[in-house]
Amino acid sequence: MITARLLLSLMMPVLLDAAAPPRRPNVVMVIFDDLRPVIGAYGDTLASTPYLDNFARGSHIFTRVYSQQSLCAPSRNSLLTGRRPDTLHLYDFYSYWRTFTGNFTTLPQYFKEHGYYTYSCGKVFHPGLSSNNTDDYPLSWSAPAFRPRTEQFMNSPVCPDKEGILRKNLICPVELQTQPYKTLPDIESVAEALRFVGSRSRHSQEPFFLAMGFHKPHINFRFPRQFLSRFNLSQFYNYTEDSLKPPDMPAVAWNPYTDVRARDDFKHSNISFPYGPISPLQAAQIRQSYYASVSYVDDLFGKLIGGLDLDETVVVALGDHGWSLGEHAEWAKYSNFEVALRVPLIIRSPQFPVAQTKYYHGITELLDVFPTLVDLAGLPKLDKCQSSQELTCGEGKSLYHQLMGLGRADEHVALSQYPRPGMLPTKHPNSDKPKLRNIKIMGYSLRTDIYRYTMWVRFHAQNFSRDWHDVYGEELYDHRLDSGEELNLMPLPQFDDVRQRLRRRLMEMVGS
Ligand SMILES: *[C@@H]1O[C@H](CO)[C@@H](O)[C@H](O)[C@H]1NC(C)=O
Ligand SMILES: *[C@@H]1O[C@H](CO)[C@@H](O)[C@H](O)[C@H]1NC(C)=O
Ligand SMILES: *[C@@H]1O[C@H](CO)[C@@H](O)[C@H](O)[C@H]1NC(C)=O
Ligand SMILES: *[C@@H]1O[C@H](CO)[C@@H](O)[C@H](O)[C@H]1NC(C)=O
Ligand SMILES: *[C@@H]1O[C@H](CO)[C@@H](O)[C@H](O)[C@H]1NC(C)=O
Ligand SMILES: *[C@@H]1O[C@H](CO)[C@@H](O)[C@H](O)[C@H]1NC(C)=O
Repeated sequence: MITARLLLSLMMPVLLDAAAPPRRPNVVMVIFDDLRPVIGAYGDTLASTPYLDNFARGSHIFTRVYSQQSLCAPSRNSLLTGRRPDTLHLYDFYSYWRTFTGNFTTLPQYFKEHGYYTYSCGKVFHPGLSSNNTDDYPLSWSAPAFRPRTEQFMNSPVCPDKEGILRKNLICPVELQTQPYKTLPDIESVAEALRFVGSRSRHSQEPFFLAMGFHKPHINFRFPRQFLSRFNLSQFYNYTEDSLKPPDMPAVAWNPYTDVRARDDFKHSNISFPYGPISPLQAAQIRQSYYASVSYVDDLFGKLIGGLDLDETVVVALGDHGWSLGEHAEWAKYSNFEVALRVPLIIRSPQFPVAQTKYYHGITELLDVFPTLVDLAGLPKLDKCQSSQELTCGEGKSLYHQLMGLGRADEHVALSQYPRPGMLPTKHPNSDKPKLRNIKIMGYSLRTDIYRYTMWVRFHAQNFSRDWHDVYGEELYDHRLDSGEELNLMPLPQFDDVRQRLRRRLMEMVGS
C-alpha cells in the first residue's frame, strides 16, 4: 500500500505537468518619470547608473523608442491602453477615457482578465481625473493602487536653502531627516513593491503583474544629497553642442519651460520670456541635478531587481517621455523634439536570455509595449485595432519577433504629437500644456530612420478634427547630419521631394 501511494505521489507532479499549461511568468513593468536615456548602457558616459547597466547586461535594449506625446498623462494613458492620444482624445490631464471616449481595455486589465494578480505601486497612471482618481482601479488592478503618502509634498516647500528656510526649489538635494516622514516617495514605493513581491511568493498558483512607477527624475530634483557628489558641475557646462534657439525653428515649436521658471530658485533670475536663456551656471546645475536624480532612482531600481526572481519574471523598464537639458536652449518636455520624445526601453525575459546586452536600433514606439508584454507572457495575442470602436485591441506592433531574432519585415516609423493654444509661446494659456478647450494647433511629428518631419496644423478641439491646409509651422531634420535637430531644412528646395513624401505619409497615418 505504502509503496503504491509513494509511487503515485512521485508520479503526480509528472502527470500534473503534462496536463497543466506551463506556468506563466510574472511581469514587472518599471516606469521612470521624464527619463531620457541618461543611462550608461545607452552610451551616456556622464551617467552613473550601475544597477541599470548591470541589469542591461542580461537584457534587450531598444535604442530608438519614442513616446506618443511628451506629457505624462497622455503618454501613460497611451502606453497603458495601447492607443494614440488622438484615439483617446487626451492631450491634457482632464478626461477619463472610459467615460469620455471608449471603455478601452488597459494593459494591466488584460493581464487581470487572463488570470494575473495585478498591482500598481507609485506613479503608473497619472493621478487625478485622467485615471478617474483611482488609478483605474478596479478595472486595471486586483487591489487599490499604492500611492506613497509623501507624494503630496511634490509641490510643497521642502527644500532647505542655505539659511535652512524651506523653499519650493527646482534643485533640491536633501537629507532624509529633514523631509516629511523622513523619507521620499520613491523609497516608499520600492519598499511597498518589495513587500508585495514577497507576499506573492505564497500564492504561486497565480502569476502577478506589478507596475512600479518612479516619480523621478521628474522635477523637482529632490533626491538624497549623496547622489550629487557623484558628479562634477564643470562636466555640465558644455553639455550640448547647440545652446541657442535654432534660427529656423517655428515659434509654435517652442516650449517656454514655465514649470522651471515657476520654482523659487528660478523665479527671481529674470529669465526672459519666452526664449531665455538660462544662465550657464543654472544650466549646468539643472543638468547635474537631473543626472543625480537618475542615479538616485537607479539605486532604488537595484533594490527592486534584487528582490525579484529573474528566472521567472519578465521585466520591462522604460521612460514615459524625455526631457530637454538645454538642447535648442530649451528645458523640460512639452515639445516634438527628439530629446523630449526619445525614451529608454529595456526588456528582460527568461525566455530570451542573453549573456551580453543585445541592442536593437529599429524605430519603436511606446505603443508597442502592450502587445509585446502580452506575447512575452504567452497570453492570447492582442488584436491590432481596426476601428476606434473596438474595446480590446492595440495600435502598436509586438516586438516579440525581434526578440526571437527574426527581425522586422517592414520599415517602421514613430508618430508623436503635441498641442498648442496658439502660434506663439504664452503664459496664459500656458502653451507648454494647454487644456483641451484651448487647443488650437496640433503638431504631428514623424520619425523615420533618417528624418524627423513635424507639421503644425489647425486643430478643432470641439470635434477632434484637423485642417491640413491650415499650417502653422513645418520642420524637417536630417539625423544623419544633425542629430541635435538644429537645422530646419524646410527652406531648402532640394528637400522638397522628401518633405512631400513625409507629409503624405504623416497625413495618411493620422487620417482626417
Ligand atoms: C467597461 O468594461 C468593463 C470590462 O470589460 C466592464 O466590466 C464595464 O461594465 C464596462 N463599463 C461600461 C460603462 O460599459
Ligand atoms: C470612477 O469613479 C467613480 C467614483 O468617483 C466610480 O463611481 C466609478 O465607478 C468609477 N469608474 C470606473 C470605470 O471605475
Ligand atoms: C571631479 O573632479 C575631481 C577634481 O577635479 C576629480 O578628482 C574627480 O575624479 C571628478 N569626479 C568625477 C565623477 O569626474
Ligand atoms: C565651455 O566652452 C567654452 C567655449 O568653448 C569655454 O570657454 C569654457 O571654458 C568651457 N567651459 C567648461 C566648464 O568647460
Ligand atoms: C531681476 O530684476 C529685478 C527688477 O528689474 C532686479 O531688482 C533684480 O536684481 C534682478 N535679479 C537678477 C538676479 O538679475
Ligand atoms: C469641426 O469643427 C470645426 C469648427 O466648428 C468645423 O469647421 C469643422 O468642419 C468640423 N469638422 C468636422 C469633421 O466635423
